[in-house]
Amino acid sequence: MASVPFVAIVTGANKGIGLECVRRLCASANPSAKVVLTSRNVDLGKAAVSELEKDASLKVLPIFHELDITKVQSINAFSTWVSQELGGVDALINNAGFSYKMTATEPFEIQARNTIDINYYGTKKVCQTLLPLMRERGRIVNISSSAGENALSSMSVDTKARFLACNNTEMLDTILEEFVSAAEAGDHKEKGFAGSAYGMSKAGVTQLTRILSVEASNIMVVSCCPGLCRTDMAVRKDWSPVSIIFWLATFLVGHSAHGGADTPVWLAHDLSWEERSSFNGKFVRERVVRS
Ligand SMILES: NC(=O)c1ccc[n+]([C@@H]2O[C@H](COP(=O)([O-])OP(=O)(O)OC[C@H]3O[C@@H](n4cnc5c(N)ncnc54)[C@H](OP(=O)(O)O)[C@@H]3O)[C@@H](O)[C@H]2O)c1
Repeated sequence: MASVPFVAIVTGANKGIGLECVRRLCASANPSAKVVLTSRNVDLGKAAVSELEKDASLKVLPIFHELDITKVQSINAFSTWVSQELGGVDALINNAGFSYKMTATEPFEIQARNTIDINYYGTKKVCQTLLPLMRERGRIVNISSSAGENALSSMSVDTKARFLACNNTEMLDTILEEFVSAAEAGDHKEKGFAGSAYGMSKAGVTQLTRILSVEASNIMVVSCCPGLCRTDMAVRKDWSPVSIIFWLATFLVGHSAHGGADTPVWLAHDLSWEERSSFNGKFVRERVVRS
């Protein structure tokens, strides 16, 4: 009987770390594997596939599919396509993410709402919709950030304890909605929340991962930080003084986008299933469990 091809999906993969996750998967996966590059922008996604098609080192060519992680209709259409065309999922890398520029002029409450909606609710919705399609021993790798750990450290003792005590997504939603409401009222720090909307959203992704890892018994769910990487998000392309400092820092303590894809792809594809118990539900950086 023919074996079922390995199926891997990467969200937000038209550029940056997501694109490099697809490149690494296509370079190392079995030639029968199906690697799906998803992007909310069809033209950018197809252009990314064309770029990878020129890379002679790849054993597998990626397949493109549209996916906007903030649109329920898009997630459902994608899930239906995966079910009908691929049959199941072995590795899902939730990479799609967003961060406002340091120079952004949007009021903080708008930044809080949008950042939580994309990074936390978007990732949660993709996880919950694709979970029924995950195959035995499948892996969900949520790309979070050390900014989430920093946000947790800057919360008040009570808020941090409530955050870490969340053992279902409804509880976590409630706390993150309290954060957004407090941001609207301008008293989120007084209420014990962190000052960074991005940090709060990534603390949410890391805690979401812990919750899902308990609920899903036959797969591994893990979060990770790719490290500081030279991508549009971190370097921001605006060449402001802060941006230049970040850019220089990536050469000292960070990675290229390709380097940033190392840990997520290692978790999604290379880590042996026997090591699952050490990694399930954990937050990983540079292939090492951090919390
Ligand atoms: N770079 C770093 O130093 C760093 C550090 C820690 C964690 N991370 C995390 O690593 C991940 C990748 O970051 P990156 O540095 O590669 O950023 P990036 O270059 O800005 O890429 C982000 C990707 O996410 C996509 N995206 C944004 N909103 C989306 C949505 N609603 N639906 C689908 N895709 C969406 C973007 O699509 P568009 O092109 O259409 O906007 C883009 O493809 C993110 O989760 C980020 O938070 C990055």
